Amino acid sequence: MSAPNNPYDPVGVSALEPAAVQAAVEAALAAIEAAASLDELKEVRLAHAGDRSPLALANREIGALPPAAKADAGKRVGEARAAVRAALDARLAQLEADRDARVLIEESVDVTMAAPRREAGARHPLTTLMERMCEVFIAMGYEVAEGPEAEAEWMNFDALNVPPNHPARTMQDTFFVGSEGSGVVLRTHTSPIQLRAMLSRELPVYVVAPGRVFRTDELDATHTPVFHQIEGLAIDEGITMADLKGTLEHLASAMFGEGVRIRLRPSYFPFTEPSAELDLECFVCRGTSVGNPDSPCRTCSSEGWIEWGGCGMVNPRVLQAAGIDTDRYSGFAFGMGVERTLMFRHGVTDMRDMVEGDVRFTRAFGLEV
Ligand code: PHE
Repeated sequence: MSAPNNPYDPVGVSALEPAAVQAAVEAALAAIEAAASLDELKEVRLAHAGDRSPLALANREIGALPPAAKADAGKRVGEARAAVRAALDARLAQLEADRDARVLIEESVDVTMAAPRREAGARHPLTTLMERMCEVFIAMGYEVAEGPEAEAEWMNFDALNVPPNHPARTMQDTFFVGSEGSGVVLRTHTSPIQLRAMLSRELPVYVVAPGRVFRTDELDATHTPVFHQIEGLAIDEGITMADLKGTLEHLASAMFGEGVRIRLRPSYFPFTEPSAELDLECFVCRGTSVGNPDSPCRTCSSEGWIEWGGCGMVNPRVLQAAGIDTDRYSGFAFGMGVERTLMFRHGVTDMRDMVEGDVRFTRAFGLEV
């Protein structure tokens, strides 16, 4: 072997000198002690126990020492590294314990704390009333039918036998979608659904059609430009006006209590013949105010009856427009305002309360969802 231990004298490797090793250990212990968080400790571990730390570098020098010096240096560096590792592990355990204790406190849930209250919503009384009215008919075997709110002018008027020059067909009463000649209107009643039901269903037909309707009225205590109607239609063999009256009597008792009376008063609608206004016995005075000036009734103006809707036997011309054999089939139809029904049933006196959406009004009807 030639020139062993050249080119330097390993005995003089400064990193392995006891003072240097001692200094590295002290620096490491001080840094470990100063590490205030797990993240900081991670940095400290890298700097003082990582591959490029002074002690790791010192350890690497050992291999080049002469055998006699190896054991001594190895023991010194080994003990130094073990001491640093032990200090790191102890600090790690402590910081982890601190964190766990903190998390327990910070993330604890106070089950007695008052939660923010959110008021439950509920459906509008008009919706629930409309549903209830439909249910009366569903129980009698009717189906619920629907139609579009933007309706063909032809369906809303012509097919229902309302002539082109009828006053209801002007912009004073009807909302046109687009210009007055567009042929599309916001339906002014639910009666076009009668026709849609006749055209799309097999006979016999028993349907109710609840829906929103539109007329160019100003909003006031008794009018609103958007309101609701319920339409009923029955077409079968042998249907008579007596069936109509019995059906309406049943609805009236279901809505206003057993025994309440209704009255059919001769009237005119182009799509029914004969036609009648449907009046309801005044639910406040039950007729006792009539001819009795000592106890007048504001609800019915002491007339004993209030107007609820319109009805009649479906005009054969309308049945024929839908291709129905009028020798075999006949039918009745009726329509009434849902807002009016709510007013009568619950003593609501101002229409505006129903459209404004103020919870102070709706809350009184309960939280039905
Ligand atoms: N559609 C009529 C109205 O809005 C009411 C009605 C319906 C009359 C069905 C007769 C038959 O005034």
